[in-house]
Amino acid sequence: IWCAVNWRLNLTGSRAYAAAAQAVLSVLESELDAIRTAGTWKGERVITSQQGPRISVDGSRGDILNFCANNYLGLSNHPEVVKAGIDALKKYGAGLSSVRFICGTQSIHKNLEEKLARFHEREDCILYASCFDANAGLFEVLLGPDDAVLSDELNHASIIDGIRLCRAKRFRYKHMDLNDLEEKLKESRSSRMRLVVTDGVFSMDGDVAPLQGICDLAEQYGALVFIDECHATGFLGPRGRGTDELLGVMDRVHIVNSTLGKALGGAAGGYTVGPKALIELLRQRSRPYLFSNSLPPPVVGCATRAVELLLASNEIAQSMAAKTMRFRNNMTQAGFTISGTAHPICPVMLGDARLASLMADDMLKLGVYVIGFSYPVVPKGKARIRVQISAAHTDEDIDRAVDAFIQTGRKHGVIS
Ligand SMILES: *Cc1c(COP(=O)(O)O)cnc(C)c1O
Ligand SMILES: *[C@@H]1O[C@H](CO)[C@@H](O)[C@H](O)[C@H]1NC(C)=O
Ligand SMILES: *[C@@H]1O[C@H](CO)[C@@H](O)[C@H](O)[C@H]1NC(C)=O
Repeated sequence: IWCAVNWRLNLTGSRAYAAAAQAVLSVLESELDAIRTAGTWKGERVITSQQGPRISVDGSRGDILNFCANNYLGLSNHPEVVKAGIDALKKYGAGLSSVRFICGTQSIHKNLEEKLARFHEREDCILYASCFDANAGLFEVLLGPDDAVLSDELNHASIIDGIRLCRAKRFRYKHMDLNDLEEKLKESRSSRMRLVVTDGVFSMDGDVAPLQGICDLAEQYGALVFIDECHATGFLGPRGRGTDELLGVMDRVHIVNSTLGKALGGAAGGYTVGPKALIELLRQRSRPYLFSNSLPPPVVGCATRAVELLLASNEIAQSMAAKTMRFRNNMTQAGFTISGTAHPICPVMLGDARLASLMADDMLKLGVYVIGFSYPVVPKGKARIRVQISAAHTDEDIDRAVDAFIQTGRKHGVIS
């Protein structure tokens, strides 16, 4: 890339150098062409307002209903969350210009870690710049060549990358398939330590991992259980603590990773909660923690307020759950197939990739922003529009989205 830039700027007079730079540029351009041809190009729509249930997109004036953010609890622009960020910015500055262990730990970082550990009812918590980093940091520290990691085949990219970085033996079990997990536990019997790894909720289908069965098997075969709770923290379970609370296994899941970048205010940051000794070891050894800047104070301020709101009451989570059921029920009644159960990720199953993309475009014309997902993000023939419900949507917003789906669904012959 550097060569290509040099060539563009014509920084060198050498003919041979220019030819070499041109060759690099050709490689980049053919890669880009291949992505376009494969139909997997990811465009970015430019939002000119705050994140929220109503947004401005590409010049519109705040009148687009947004159904594709992970803003499940509507905290991304909640006045108290924003104010806490401003207060922290004023009191603690823009950033630390340091990693945590040199001079980058403030009282607010320790305070947020303590609150998150309490929220998840685990001994300790370690903050990262993102959950992607949290996932990249864990496996390498915990697992060596004598160990094994058993992971669901549909786990999130950050988990897959994290596993790639560690030297443990890898076993992938079929998506949510307990029989296959048991086979892999038998195959890995000779390992020193085994870790079963799964998303609590899978982001494309909103389906919930069978944690009771996973914990039963883990206990039978002496394995640890790790869950990534990015699409569950803050709203699943009676008090919004997550998939482990929903399924009654909070005391049987050993390690939890999650994000501050979705339901918990949506700014940035990730974390791991678990046994104190593990968290201490991560602080000593985890590379994304050791060698990356501390979370900025405004981000810590926003997340702290979000967690405080959730520790105080589960009203917001209940409001989101009610709206999710309103959407799911009315859509099902209208003849659509919605995958998953009771999760705010509501995949409207359409099958055909082109149909999903055309319908999403038509929905936007009606002022409802949703996104179509197709292969390779989801399996071939399982294209869908993924709708994400937020507590910040009003009942009228939900009904408007349902109406828009009915109108476009009829136009495209999906429903009658
Ligand atoms: C979003 C997501 C992540 C990444 O979280 P960031 O904090 O944005 O890096 C990791 N795992 C899962 C399952 C996710 O959905
Ligand atoms: C969870 O986070 C830790 C760091 O906090 C990371 O090392 C680990 O890889 C993550 N695990 C998974 C399964 O995502
Ligand atoms: C959706 O469901 C609610 C009740 O859950 C109902 O009052 C409302 O009229 C329905 N809206 C549509 C568009 O069908």
